[in-house]
Amino acid sequence: MNLIKVENYEEMSRAAADLFLAQVKEKPASVLGLATGSSPVGLYKLLAGANADFSQAKSVNLDEYCGLSADNPQSYRYFMTENLFKHININQANTHVPDGMAANPDAEAERYEELIEKLGGIDLQLLGMGHNGHIGFNEPDEEFAAATHRVYLAEQTIKANSRFFASPEEVPTSAITMGIKTIMQARKIVVIASGSEKTNILKKALYGTITPRVPASVLQLHQNLTVITDCFE
Ligand code: GLP
Repeated sequence: MNLIKVENYEEMSRAAADLFLAQVKEKPASVLGLATGSSPVGLYKLLAGANADFSQAKSVNLDEYCGLSADNPQSYRYFMTENLFKHININQANTHVPDGMAANPDAEAERYEELIEKLGGIDLQLLGMGHNGHIGFNEPDEEFAAATHRVYLAEQTIKANSRFFASPEEVPTSAITMGIKTIMQARKIVVIASGSEKTNILKKALYGTITPRVPASVLQLHQNLTVITDCFE
């Protein structure tokens, strides 16, 4: 593991942006695995302002809420458009997010998994860290979920994510997420985590027992993992 300790959110965002910019410079047709949440907002701002060439790049997002359409401001598709896609020269047709409105979420999950395969796999996958150690929406469980699948969200996740909604009742209760195997197959993974409230879970994930009770702990097994964080001294 390559651990990059930084002082604050801005430094974390800068270091992550440098990795993404280097990736598309080295391989313009990279498949970029992207994430939502408050952790990547600063990174996306820097990418938007970098004047870099994303014209050949493709993107696949980790997850999407079930029941939210692309024009719903709480959907991850909307978040990505607003925070990144509309500010860079990526071909919008090459940006992929699971379809939260799919009539059959299981079939949509299967389609998404196949899509990633067809694209040739993910070159660089960005991950934030949920407070319970979830990555994407892979919640603590008895076993690691392999492929892209529909998942019912943990109470803690609904509570944490309700800050973006008018009330916890409005948070969708299920989502479509890349599975652990989907994520682990990415050639490179970069985790970003900022703020003292993430210190405990990040320590557990990186140095604790590898267990599906802490989904992010599986990352210890990845061959090319970079962690950028201000959580450690
Ligand atoms: C959501 C997303 C995760 C993200 C997590 C942490 O649940 N599905 O992909 O990593 O939130 O979000 P934040 O970066 O806001 O702490």
